[in-house]
Amino acid sequence: MQLILLGPPGAGKGTQSKLLETRYGVAQISTGDMLRAEVKAGTPIGLEAKSVMDAGRLVSDELIIRMIGERISRPDCAKGFILDGFPRTVPQAEALDLLLHKAAVDLDAVIELKVDEAALVERISGRFTCAKCGAGYHDKFKQPRVAGVCDVCGSTEFTRRADDNAETVHQRLLAYNAQTAPILPYYQAKGRLHTVDGMAAMEDVAQQIEAVLRRVGVVAAS
Ligand code: AP5
Repeated sequence: MQLILLGPPGAGKGTQSKLLETRYGVAQISTGDMLRAEVKAGTPIGLEAKSVMDAGRLVSDELIIRMIGERISRPDCAKGFILDGFPRTVPQAEALDLLLHKAAVDLDAVIELKVDEAALVERISGRFTCAKCGAGYHDKFKQPRVAGVCDVCGSTEFTRRADDNAETVHQRLLAYNAQTAPILPYYQAKGRLHTVDGMAAMEDVAQQIEAVLRRVGVVAAS
């Protein structure tokens, strides 16, 4: 399966792609997570990306395309992958077409998660993750079963993203509308675009996505 999840910051791309990774047994690739790992490790890529990410702008196409080209050539992508946060510009979408062509695989679907702007701000400002295993939570929508303890690994340390503040979120939304939304007609013209209601509860959104995947002939691993 080769799938793209598209949507503005906070639309639920990370949440849904992690569920799909387990259900369909394919790699989840988040360019945001990859960049944050580079920043944390203090690599040259991380140093180049940090100030851009902190400002809510997009990292250069050239850097991202190089990173994705290397990532999808790894063995864990042989059975397919879910792209979360990539492509984000038309040049990135065009570069992906070339990479897929070279690998002799095709995109199964591009799924847009549609969410109101006011809900996005609420989702992003309440988001936090386990500092140890990265499991995602939300102050209102997804609290740990035991307050202050990660459901997955039992850690009691949590973090919030540096770019999840009101000013940066505003910039990220501007970047989405100006640079990423033009990808929608690009994939519409190719007959690959499907839209789901991202305002629904997480489980409902997952079911809508599975329905799209069934329609395009992708079946779950289990
Ligand atoms: P990235 O990490 O990709 O961030 P983003 O696109 O802004 O998306 P988010 O991770 O904020 O949101 P999401 O849609 O994954 O939502 P989530 O599932 O967490 O990118 C960060 C930065 O890196 C960019 O600004 C840019 O600088 C750079 N970058 C990355 N990729 C790039 C690229 N290709 N090109 C250039 N630059 C790039 O959900 C949010 C919250 O809502 C969670 O707390 C969750 O629990 C909750 N939630 C989810 N679904 C629901 C629901 N249905 N109902 C209620 N709550 C929900």
